[in-house]
Amino acid sequence: MKFGHFDDIRREYVIEHPDTPLPWINYLGCEDFFGLISNTGGGYCFYRDARLRRLTRYRYNNVPGDCGGRYLYLRDDDTGAFWSPTWQPTRTELEAYSCRHGMGYSIIASQYSAIEASVRYFVPLGQTLEVWQAVITNRRSSPAQLSLFSAIEFCLWDALDDASNFQRNFNTGEVEVEGSVIYHKTEYRERRDHFAYFACSEALTGFDTQREAFLGAYRGWDRPRAVEEGKSGESIAHGWAPIGSHQVNLRLQPGESRTVTFLLGYQENPPEQKFDPVGSQTLNKQSVHPIIARYLQPDEVEKAFDGLQHYWNQLLDAFQVNTPDEHTNRMVNIWNAYQCMVTFNLSRSASYFESGIGRGMGFRDSNQDLLGFVHMIPAKARQRILDLAATQLPTGGAYHQYQPLTKRGNNDVGGDFNDDPLWLVLAVSAYLKETGEWGVLDERVPYDNQPGSEQPLYEHLQRSLRYTIDRLGPHGLPLIGRADWNDCLNLNCFSDTPGQSFQTTTNREGKVAESVFIGGLFALAANEMAALSSRYGRRADADFYRLSAQKMSATVMEHGWDGEWFLRAYDALGERVGSKDCPEGQIFIEPQGICVLAGLGATDGRAEKALASVRERLATQHGIVLLQPAFTRYYLNLGEISSYPPGTKENASVFCHTNPWIMAAEASLGHGDQAYDYYMRINPSAREAISAVHRSEPYVYAQTIAGKDAPSFGEAKNSWLTGTAAWNFVAITQWILGIRPTLDGLQIAPAIPAAWQGFEARRLYRGVSYVIRIERRGRGNRVRLEVNGAGVEGNVIPIPAVGVREVKVTAFLL
Ligand code: BGC
Ligand code: NOJ
Repeated sequence: MKFGHFDDIRREYVIEHPDTPLPWINYLGCEDFFGLISNTGGGYCFYRDARLRRLTRYRYNNVPGDCGGRYLYLRDDDTGAFWSPTWQPTRTELEAYSCRHGMGYSIIASQYSAIEASVRYFVPLGQTLEVWQAVITNRRSSPAQLSLFSAIEFCLWDALDDASNFQRNFNTGEVEVEGSVIYHKTEYRERRDHFAYFACSEALTGFDTQREAFLGAYRGWDRPRAVEEGKSGESIAHGWAPIGSHQVNLRLQPGESRTVTFLLGYQENPPEQKFDPVGSQTLNKQSVHPIIARYLQPDEVEKAFDGLQHYWNQLLDAFQVNTPDEHTNRMVNIWNAYQCMVTFNLSRSASYFESGIGRGMGFRDSNQDLLGFVHMIPAKARQRILDLAATQLPTGGAYHQYQPLTKRGNNDVGGDFNDDPLWLVLAVSAYLKETGEWGVLDERVPYDNQPGSEQPLYEHLQRSLRYTIDRLGPHGLPLIGRADWNDCLNLNCFSDTPGQSFQTTTNREGKVAESVFIGGLFALAANEMAALSSRYGRRADADFYRLSAQKMSATVMEHGWDGEWFLRAYDALGERVGSKDCPEGQIFIEPQGICVLAGLGATDGRAEKALASVRERLATQHGIVLLQPAFTRYYLNLGEISSYPPGTKENASVFCHTNPWIMAAEASLGHGDQAYDYYMRINPSAREAISAVHRSEPYVYAQTIAGKDAPSFGEAKNSWLTGTAAWNFVAITQWILGIRPTLDGLQIAPAIPAAWQGFEARRLYRGVSYVIRIERRGRGNRVRLEVNGAGVEGNVIPIPAVGVREVKVTAFLL
């Protein structure tokens, strides 16, 4: 069953039923101010940090689900009937309903008792506010007398404290009302720093700012007293739960429309006023008056909306394809790229599965996210790289996370994830392949943000690789530390005492666990580094890294091969993990993908064998599961991975992040059909038809799809903020479509399905527009390139200075 449809022309997904299996959300804002918005108006917004500067309250795990958001109520003052034009929170059955989630905006439209309402939500570029523009139309043949109520619940800024520290928080809430603007000023007394405002374009009939006055005692958002009675309480919040609610009366003639605009914004005082203990208690309202005046004008709203669309079109236009398959087209051209930008903006902080209070920016995650957006915003990718490198430790190791506001590494979850530093090498390499901007390697960057410790970025990369080389285990494989990419494979947590896991310990014989996956990742990164070094004029380094990659590859082939596939690891007692000898968890996906991508087993058939094992043992119709057989009990020597029920998360779900590694690996061996088949199994658009099973949004990837061992096989969870976005973009664009940036230029090496005769692509690359037409001719394993009419040797297009390049590709594929 489908709950909506794609509108590719408008770059929107149109939800046609409000009661989607789960809230299907979108993101507003792409700079400093962000909002999460569901298809029924649920969600919340925040300024920069989802924990510390949260404007509106949202209760995760609430009943009914997805309750709390940007609410509007319409009341027919002649009959007393009322409803929510976004369906929630009254959940009145509507005569018509649609939610259009677009690029940075959502439009929810509905009709009830012949009153049409359409609300457009977005954040103007450069502003720290969200606009809700409501257009109410009377479709009756008689005049309508209506009341429109807005309602938001303010969060007292620190979302964690807000959800727990009630002995304080029920006392601190403060507001001010001036004209049609409600100001939320809790904390202002003490900090004189920031406040929120909720403005309305119309003269008010009434307002409320105390939740209980609006709702009535013991009532919920579905039946507020004020709406039922048609009369706001004019309440001023002192403590308890400050809210913002406007009441506007509308008399509409038949066919008449009225636009009512609301602005929900954040304002910060200039630095000299912040934390000034004797400063004025007076709210700095005049600072927002001009902003409010501006965005309450419909033509300014329109201009801002056009600006936003232009911004997104420009980003997405960097890469557009036209293939024979609509799912591929819309994911590459629209949604996958959009999701990559959202993961760039939000990292893993705030989704409907990440509460915005728990996590900083992941070192490993942010480096991988970059692979998906570097072609759209190279300048921001560069900054991200420098920020990440500045949190690196002098050992070459990394804090696992850093705080977005301070950009400092933190020890909230500890360090010692031994794969972390290697991802920096891959990110920088991707940046250089995209931009050719070698100067970045000379940028002087500190370690751990300590002034005086600055060294060129190139040295940071050297230390990243050193970090692995200095930490090899008994088999010469990299020590895993607390975990590698798989956070839940905790092989050094050998403690019989519950709660004492997650300590990197040596066991009695002094051995510590080793990771085959990091072995493969190291080989991949060291080869990339060799290429960078030689281009950077460091021949000796290049030789060293090439040799290091070879050595590591040989070690992996000797100690990391299990006969039919790559082993996963050795635990702290030196026992094999991910081996046919294990009772459960005999084969893991991660090393198969990364080792093959690193070129391991390419010449002796073992790469083919590893991928064949994946096909036989791990592939399902809903994607490739992470391991098999799933762990049915807890294993002290494996840790969190076995804490999950079989088929969920790291314990044998389709962990979507890893699937594109296999797609890319298959494509690298020329298996276009197989690679594409895997691509389609988890492509959200291709799964739209089974939305009742998949349940998550059909326009973005989720982190996980329940595996075959789970009762909910096929159900997707943890949508939006996942490395799945970047890696699928890489797999489809660089490996299957085969348009791959290299240090020397754009390489064209497609591994497309046999049924395709070809495809076209437009790619902006180093300032040059490439128009690429690929046509399949006969069998083989090569392409013939013609650039602007002239034949070119090999499959890499030499880099021109500027201009447009028409590239004709004749492909002879396996
Ligand atoms: C999840 C992992 C995640 C980790 C982050 C675990 O519970 O299963 O997917 O990487 O938490 O700390
Ligand atoms: C999600 C985490 O954000 C990511 O860093 C990790 O690699 C995967 N889970 C797998 O555990």
